[in-house]
Amino acid sequence: MVRNTKPKLEIVQHTRSFKTSKRITPNRLSQDFYSMKNITVIGSGTMGNGIAHLFAQQGFAVSLVDLSPEQLSMALTTISKNMDRQVTKGTLSESQKMAALQRIQTHTDLAMAVVQADLVVEAATENLEIKLELFRQLDQLAPATAVLASNTSSISITQIAAVTKRPAQVIGMHFMNPVPVMKLVEVIQGYATSAETTSQIMQLALQLDKVAVEVQDYPGFVANRILMPMINEAIYTLFEGVAGVSEIDTVMKLGMAHPMGPLQLADFIGLDVCLSILSVLQEGFGNPKYAPCPLLRTMVAAGFKGVKTGEGFYCYPAGTKDFTVSSRFSK
Ligand SMILES: NC(=O)c1ccc[n+]([C@@H]2O[C@H](COP(=O)([O-])OP(=O)(O)OC[C@H]3O[C@@H](n4cnc5c(N)ncnc54)[C@H](O)[C@@H]3O)[C@@H](O)[C@H]2O)c1
Repeated sequence: MVRNTKPKLEIVQHTRSFKTSKRITPNRLSQDFYSMKNITVIGSGTMGNGIAHLFAQQGFAVSLVDLSPEQLSMALTTISKNMDRQVTKGTLSESQKMAALQRIQTHTDLAMAVVQADLVVEAATENLEIKLELFRQLDQLAPATAVLASNTSSISITQIAAVTKRPAQVIGMHFMNPVPVMKLVEVIQGYATSAETTSQIMQLALQLDKVAVEVQDYPGFVANRILMPMINEAIYTLFEGVAGVSEIDTVMKLGMAHPMGPLQLADFIGLDVCLSILSVLQEGFGNPKYAPCPLLRTMVAAGFKGVKTGEGFYCYPAGTKDFTVSSRFSK
């Protein structure tokens, strides 16, 4: 039961039973909400750099963490280029851009990065072991009052929360790609997440000028439970030779009014991320209908992961917006 919301004015928060709803307007925002100032973002890849960009643009102090200085430097370059696009469009001034970039500090040391965190948003690689280890460490290192959020696309928030001593303060904050542009934040309540934490994060999403939708913690939540089977079916359709890459994407764009075809969308999400999500769905529901297509497995094993590696179903030459169907799939 998802209602239309007016993000600038109100959000609609549903209870677990979905029978009643509570409206929150900006003049009723809680004190906790206004006290969130320092945000730590873990992982500076596709999503992490977008999340850091968004928070910095909205005036928060951001600590951005990754494993290597090289990755962090690439992330800052990406953020700067993406902000340049906003400057060109007139949605951000040059001085706002400079101020936002100055609000981002980079770290390879997790302890330093979280020492003042009010909120940690984890956007590291979609891998259960990596996330469990990170949350064990975050629980030790972050202030006791900090909320720990994961941007995971599919991994159980309940399972992540269970490795911490603060499961009531662990929640899913699932941003969409590209983060500064896409309106939705799927807010996932783990089994032990408190109503207060959920309320804080719903309100924070509002402050970020996003539309927040609260969902329960089941594999793939809502977005990927519906999207990934469609992407997987598109890959099967290609694999079985029913149609080519651009034909499949054209059918879905022009026939279903999708802004982007499913194969291109998979390239943008990252084929490794798609494979991980499908594996979580297959295991979580115990249903073979989610089994990842063998072609997807092969492409990921070969390192053809989409935009981030320069080639997936399409080729993305560096420094240009032009892309063509990969020669592996052209007739
Ligand atoms: N790609 C998408 O469209 C999308 C959309 C929504 C959510 N997500 C989720 O966001 C998360 C990140 O996905 P992504 O696409 O940005 O992945 P990515 O591969 O682009 O980036 C992941 C980053 O995490 C870093 N990392 C790994 N382990 C780390 C650690 N222990 N500490 C610090 N950094 C670490 C990696 O070095 C890498 O830079 C995943 O959970 C994914 O499911 C992705």
